Amino acid sequence: MHNYRAMIYRLTPEMIMELVEPLSHLLWDAVDSGASIGFLPPVDPVESLRYWDSVRIAVYEGSRVLLAYIEDDEMVGTVQLDLAMRKNALHRAEVMKLMVHRNGRRRGVATALMNEVEKVAREMGRTLLVLDTRRGDESEKLYRKLGYLEAGEIPRYARSADGTLHATVILFKEL
Ligand SMILES: CC(C)(COP(=O)(O)OP(=O)(O)OC[C@H]1O[C@@H](n2cnc3c(N)ncnc32)[C@H](O)[C@@H]1OP(=O)(O)O)[C@@H](O)C(=O)NCCC(=O)NCCS
Repeated sequence: MHNYRAMIYRLTPEMIMELVEPLSHLLWDAVDSGASIGFLPPVDPVESLRYWDSVRIAVYEGSRVLLAYIEDDEMVGTVQLDLAMRKNALHRAEVMKLMVHRNGRRRGVATALMNEVEKVAREMGRTLLVLDTRRGDESEKLYRKLGYLEAGEIPRYARSADGTLHATVILFKEL
């Protein structure tokens, strides 16, 4: 990685290519920690490379924003904003895959990423943010603290690493 200081970067497709290894390490760490972010442990390295490549393409196409918190050249956390592209939905976006490396948690990194993603959303005219998360996770506490409101819950929505199906809560925030 070339000299990234402590700050939040909006990654370009080129930066995503350059940073694919640290991004993959972050994803593995989050999944290993039990996070419900679409993958089950152990994540196949090829699967994670393919995943970050799909994010790179979405960023290139303009339908996704990827923010990364990088400190002392370490990839500490990321969050994504998926921009709804339908004509009737241009005011809306989905916050996805917020993750902070276990070494960097409880220092306000996720809060900083969420504040920045909201700023970017506002700048892009996206005034309604939606997201979902596993019921009862630390992330649910974080989102509620940041003012996200519950739209509802879907029982048995996603599988956890131990094989059980867990409920997902849908949250939203009007900016
Ligand atoms: C959820 C996650 C992103 C939080 O990141 P973080 O940088 O540690 O969060 P912050 O330091 O900004 O925490 C902000 C607030 O969220 C809540 N919170 C965060 N982690 C918590 C925990 N482990 N237990 C209880 N509350 C927690 C607290 O209210 C905290 O404020 P406080 O530290 O002043 O008490 C991180 O734990 C993570 O990456 N988890 C795995 C991935 C995941 O589940 N992502 C969500 C996908 S929807």
